[in-house]
Amino acid sequence: MRFAISRPLPALRVPEYLASDSARAAQVVLGLFWLVDGGLQLQPFMYSHGWVQQLSSTEAGQPQWLASSIAWGAGLAGANLPVWNTAFALIQVGIGLGLLYRRTVKLALAASLAWAAIVWWLGEAFGMLFMNTAGPLTGAPGAVLLYALTALVIWPNGRAGGLLGERGARVMWAVLWVMEGWLWLLPGNSGDDSVSNAIASVPTGTGWLSAALAHVAQVAQGRGQVIALACAGLSALIGCAVGFRWHARAFLRAAIVLNLLYWVVGQGFGGIATGDATDVDTAPLFILLACTLFSLFPKPARSSGAGAPSAASAVRDAASGNRRRPQAARRVAGAALSRRAAVTAGVAAGAGLIAGCSGLLGGGGNSSGRSPVGSRKPVPGNGHNSQHDEQHGNGPGGEGSSGGSGAQGRHDPNAGIVMLSSEVTLPAQFRAPLPVPVQLEPSRQTSDTDYYEIVQSQATAEIIPGLRTPIWGYNGTFPGPTIVQNPGRRVVVTHKNALPVPTVVHLHGGTTPHDSDGYPTDFVLPDATYGTFPEMPAMAGMPATTDPDASITRLTRDYTYPPQPRAATLWYHDHRMDFTGPSVYRGLTGFHIARDAAEQALPLPRGARDVPLMILDRAFAADGSFLYPALDPSLRSVPGVDKRSMNGVMGDVILVNGAPWPVMKVDTARYRFRVLNASNARTYQLALDDPSLGAGFTQIGTDHGLLAAPLSLDAIAISPAQRFDVVIDFTRHKPGDQVTLVNQLGSGSTAVVMRFVVAQATGDNSSIPATLSPTATITPTPAMTQRTIKFHRGADDWTINGQVFDPGTSQADVSGGSTELWTITSDFHHPFHIHNATMQVIARDGQAPGPYDQGWKDTVFVNKGENVQLAIRFASYQGRYVFHCHNLEHEDMGMMANFRIS
Ligand code: C2O
Ligand code: CU
Repeated sequence: MRFAISRPLPALRVPEYLASDSARAAQVVLGLFWLVDGGLQLQPFMYSHGWVQQLSSTEAGQPQWLASSIAWGAGLAGANLPVWNTAFALIQVGIGLGLLYRRTVKLALAASLAWAAIVWWLGEAFGMLFMNTAGPLTGAPGAVLLYALTALVIWPNGRAGGLLGERGARVMWAVLWVMEGWLWLLPGNSGDDSVSNAIASVPTGTGWLSAALAHVAQVAQGRGQVIALACAGLSALIGCAVGFRWHARAFLRAAIVLNLLYWVVGQGFGGIATGDATDVDTAPLFILLACTLFSLFPKPARSSGAGAPSAASAVRDAASGNRRRPQAARRVAGAALSRRAAVTAGVAAGAGLIAGCSGLLGGGGNSSGRSPVGSRKPVPGNGHNSQHDEQHGNGPGGEGSSGGSGAQGRHDPNAGIVMLSSEVTLPAQFRAPLPVPVQLEPSRQTSDTDYYEIVQSQATAEIIPGLRTPIWGYNGTFPGPTIVQNPGRRVVVTHKNALPVPTVVHLHGGTTPHDSDGYPTDFVLPDATYGTFPEMPAMAGMPATTDPDASITRLTRDYTYPPQPRAATLWYHDHRMDFTGPSVYRGLTGFHIARDAAEQALPLPRGARDVPLMILDRAFAADGSFLYPALDPSLRSVPGVDKRSMNGVMGDVILVNGAPWPVMKVDTARYRFRVLNASNARTYQLALDDPSLGAGFTQIGTDHGLLAAPLSLDAIAISPAQRFDVVIDFTRHKPGDQVTLVNQLGSGSTAVVMRFVVAQATGDNSSIPATLSPTATITPTPAMTQRTIKFHRGADDWTINGQVFDPGTSQADVSGGSTELWTITSDFHHPFHIHNATMQVIARDGQAPGPYDQGWKDTVFVNKGENVQLAIRFASYQGRYVFHCHNLEHEDMGMMANFRIS
C-alpha cells in the first residue's frame, strides 16, 4: 500500500488555516492524539496487571451478559499481555496515521469510533451505568461522546458540518452547551464550597501553578453561587448564540478561552504538570470542536454587504478545492440580528430558569453532581467524579492509561484529596519546642504483667499560641501518653471512657487476642447520662445494623496485650465504627513501643536520643478548634463528612507530637527517630534540607520492627499509619547548624515539617550495626492460598471487593499461623492495613518492591491503578479481625472488611 499526503498542509498562519479548513486541522490533531495514545500504550505501566484489572473489573450489579464479555476482554489481555499491548498500540498508531493521511481519513475515523466503543464497553465505563456509579456520560463516556461528535463533524464529505451538516452541527453544539449551563446549576455544583474547592484542589509539586490556583481559589471563596450562575448563563449563551449564528465566531472564541481556563484552573493541565494524569479531560475536545465549527461561520468581509464571499471563506474554498458550497451567502442579514438576539437571550434565560428550578427542587434526576459531559467542569459536589475522570476520562480512546506507578511517589499519593484551610493565622514555624509524649507509669505490676490506666477525656490544648483547642485525649493529652511494653511483659490497659460518645481502642500493629483488638463494634459506651446509641447508624449505602457478635461494655474496659513478637513502634488509636476519622482527628492517638532483648543489645541511639515523632496535619477553625467537616459535629449519630472531603481530610498545619512545625535542639550525635504518620489521609515524602547529610536517613526499622540491615535513603514516603524508624547523624555538624525536615509532597505551609537545631557538641558512642535483625524473606509458593482484594470507589462510599463493611460477613477465612498471598488492586490510592498479621511486599506491578517497602509491614501504600502483591502471615489468635484502608475517611465510609482466623 502506498501512502501519500495528497495535499500538503497549506502554508498559512494558524488562525487562517483553521478558518480555511478546520475539518482537516481537526483530523490532524486527532491523528496526532492517536499517535501519542499508541505510544502511551507501550509504556511499561501498561504491561502491568493493574491495567488488566481495569479491563476485567466486573462489578456486583452489572448484568451477567456484560460481565461475561468483560471477562472475555480480560482473558485477551491476561496471558499474553505484551503481545496484545503491542497489537493495540499498532492499531492506535494505524488510526493516527490514517487520520493524518488524507486518503484514509474515513477509514481511520470509522476505526477510531469502533475502538472508542470497545473501550467504553470493556473498560467499565459502560458497565458503570448499571451500578449507578456514573452518570450516563461521566468521564470516558463523555469523552467518547465528544469524540464521536467531533468525528461526525469532521467527516470528509465535502460539507461544512460533516455528516451532521451545518445545521446539525450547530444544534449539537447548542444542546451540549445549554446542558453545560444546566450542570452548573445542579445543587452539587453551585455551592461556595464546590466552586472554590474545584479550583482549590491544587496538585502538589507544581509551585507556580499551585500558587496561581490558590490565589484563584481565594478570590472564588464565598462567591460560589455567583460564579456558578455566571458560568451557567455564559454556557447557555454560548450554546444558543452559536446555534442561532448570532455573533457565532465571537462566542466560539469565548468557548475556547473558557475551556482553556477551565483546563488550567480545573486541574486537567495541572495533572499533566505533576505527571499525575495522562488524562487531559474533555476541555481539549471542546476546543477542537469549537475550532472545527469556525468553518460554519465565515469571517464577515469588512467592506462588503451581506452575500459577498468573505476573505476567509475564499481561502477555505481554495484550500479545500472548492468542494464546499460558499457559506457567506448564508450569513445572517443585519435585519435578522435583533430577532435572533431576542430568541437567543430568551432561550438562555428559559434554560437557566428551568435548571434553576430543578436545582431548587433537588431535581435533575440524579442530583449528586454528576456531570453529563465528562467532568468538564470539576464536580466537587461529588468526590467521585474527579476520580472517575482520572481513571476513565483520559480522552478519546482512553483505556485507563493513567495506570499504575512502579513505586510509591511517582503518582501523587495525595491526588484528589481536598486540603482544608485554617481560619486562623498560621503560627510561626520553628518556635514551639518539640514536645515528647510522657511515658505512662504502670499503676501496678505483677511478676509478668504491667497494669496501666487511661481516662479518655475532653480537655483543651494550646496548639496555636493564644488559642485553646478542645481535644479528646487519652488522659486528656494529645498525643496520648506513650506506653512502653518491656520484653516478655504482658500489658493490661484499663481504659475509662469519660467522653460523650462510645469509643474503641485498637493497638495498631499489635499481635492481640480478638477481644482486646478493638474490633470496631466492641464499644466502650459512655456514661448512661449520654443516652443510648444506635450501634451502627445508617449511612449512605450502609443500612443501620446491629452487630450481635459485638462485645460491648459501659464506661470501662481492660485491654490485654500479651508480649509482642518483635520490638516495634506500635500505636494505639480510636477505632469506633463509622467515626474513627473524627475521633482520631480530635486527638485519640498515642504511641505504644514494644521492646525486646535482641534490640536492646544493639548499640543504637537510646534514651533521650530515641525519639518518637508523630506527624499529622490539622486545620483550625477561627475559635482554635480543630476544623473537621463532620456531618454531625457531636459525633453521636450521623457518620460521614461533607461530600467534598469524601476522599479524605487534610489540614494545612503540620503538627509533630502535637506542636506546629516544632524545633528540636540536638547534640552533635546520632538520633533514632520513630516516625509515625498519624494523619487521617495525608501521605508525606520526608527529606532533610541539608545536603551535607548526603542520604540523610538511615532506615533501621519499619512498622513491625528492625530491618535485616540498615538502608540509606534520602527521602521517605510515608502513608497514613506507617512507621519508619530512622537514624539521623548530626555528628558532622557544629553547634548553630540547622537542619529542616521537609515534606516533598507538600507545598506552602505543608512543605515543612520541623527543624533540628544543633545546640551543643558532645560525644556519641552509638553506632548502626550492619546487621540489625535477621529476617527471613518470604518466598511465595504454589501451596499458599491466593486472594485478590479490590479496593474500589462505590457510589457514595468506598468498597472492598464491591462491598461496604458488614460485621456479619467474612471476606477471608484463614488459618492461624499460615501465610497467604494477597494481591491488592485499587482505583484510588489507599494505605492497606491488616490487623493481627504481618506482611512483606512481594511485588509492585509485577516488579520488585519499592524502596519504602522493606521489612515487616502492617500498612502498605497502594497507589492508584497499582497492583501490590503481599505475603501475609497471620498471628495465631483466633476470631474476627478486620483489614481496611487507613485513610480514615475511607475506612469510615465502608472501606473495611472482616476476615476470620481459625
Ligand atoms: Cu490503625 Cu484498623 O487501624
Ligand atoms: Cu482508602
